[in-house]
Amino acid sequence: MSNKNQFGTKIGLIAATVGSAVGLGNVWRFPILAQSNGGAAFLLVYVACVFILGIPVMMAEFSLGRGGGSDAVGSFQNITPGKKWWMAGAIGILASYIILSYYMVVAGWTLEYTWQSITGDLYTPITEGGAMNNAQFTSKMNEYIVNDYNPLIFTFLMIIANFAILLGGVKRGIERLSNILMPMLFVLLIIFAGVSLSLPKAEDGLSFFLNPDFSKVDATVVVNAMGQAFFSLSLGMGILITYSSYYPKNTILSRTAVTVSMLDMTVAIMMGIIIFPAVTSFGLTGESLEGASLVFITLPEVFAQMAGGQIWSILFFFFLMVAALTSTISIAEVSIAFMQDHFKMSRVKACVTVLAPLFILSSLCSLSQGSLGSMKIFGFTLFDLFDQVATNIMLPIASILVCIYMGWIAPKTFFKNQLSNNGTVRSRVFHIVLFIVRFIAPVLIASILIAYFVK
Ligand code: PHE
Repeated sequence: MSNKNQFGTKIGLIAATVGSAVGLGNVWRFPILAQSNGGAAFLLVYVACVFILGIPVMMAEFSLGRGGGSDAVGSFQNITPGKKWWMAGAIGILASYIILSYYMVVAGWTLEYTWQSITGDLYTPITEGGAMNNAQFTSKMNEYIVNDYNPLIFTFLMIIANFAILLGGVKRGIERLSNILMPMLFVLLIIFAGVSLSLPKAEDGLSFFLNPDFSKVDATVVVNAMGQAFFSLSLGMGILITYSSYYPKNTILSRTAVTVSMLDMTVAIMMGIIIFPAVTSFGLTGESLEGASLVFITLPEVFAQMAGGQIWSILFFFFLMVAALTSTISIAEVSIAFMQDHFKMSRVKACVTVLAPLFILSSLCSLSQGSLGSMKIFGFTLFDLFDQVATNIMLPIASILVCIYMGWIAPKTFFKNQLSNNGTVRSRVFHIVLFIVRFIAPVLIASILIAYFVK
């Protein structure tokens, strides 16, 4: 992100921002939450959160970053020197780091599944002329993910890959690669959706995902949907503030926010259209539906139905692994840039300081899926605790602070000037956005959090 040329083209800028947004959040996290929060009811609240909260907050972060011209903490300091509002950015950076520690583990799973698809181990009974059922895919998942050692190896490999890329300066190459692979991932998803929809009993799954049952909507569903919207759009973590500081002066921020959010939401919805018909078709129920299983059991089952399934599997997990890698790099970059700027660390020292603790933190998260699973903190495994606290509490709080800051604290014309590019673009949405950012978003987010806690 250190090279301004990177955002020389409009497509490059949108692609890079979409690259940050689209990741495991859409492909792995979204289906899990939709599954456990009532399917279509969750989808509906999630879509509402993207429109009412996500897009305006994204415009606020873009304005803050481009106008402030620095990282998540520095931008606040540049706009209002001497005030303590930079702490909002600091909460975001901390949240992104907590997220990174378990995100790296899931990134490791995608690497392991890529590898096991290549070796064929994931599909051995089939390649040996047999068939595969849920139980076999479940036992593969247990071996690859729940087992203590296998996932650690792959998580470590991902951390090392991050080191190499962030230090070696091949970052732009990786980002370019991701800009090619992302559209390809999109095409793959369309093909998989076609296959999934043609499975027997696909309608039942589709109806679970698309026909809302409002009686299922409660405070937990709403808080999960809101957290997912922020997570998926990379909001409240200082990432988009940092990214937008590289945007050119003539970028139309409102349009960029809408485009990025729509693309991100589309990927999530497509994943739902792929996963849920497959779930009903293969008759998965109960335990096998929890956590990781949707992407790591259900999808391999879909691939096994397709001609050349192993190739599809390799392609999918490889693309997903690259998407995860570009996300881990961008999350780590925020902390690294912060360490370099504010503690005057060298690049090497900052990379070590940020990435080395992950060997321990990510290992603990990984083990909490296996033998440390019975160790519960407030009723959660460490993995789930990190996920819940960062996503459902810290991201919303950081977003409330960003809204209050842009709506009330920053100089009066600042937000308007950013959205209208100093009056050169007529921004019809400005009044609505300002109203949402000033009143609706902070009150709504705060009420959702309160309702969730007093419940
Ligand atoms: N938005 C990304 C996703 O949905 C996650 C992410 C978070 C990426 C923070 C970058 C930074 O997977």
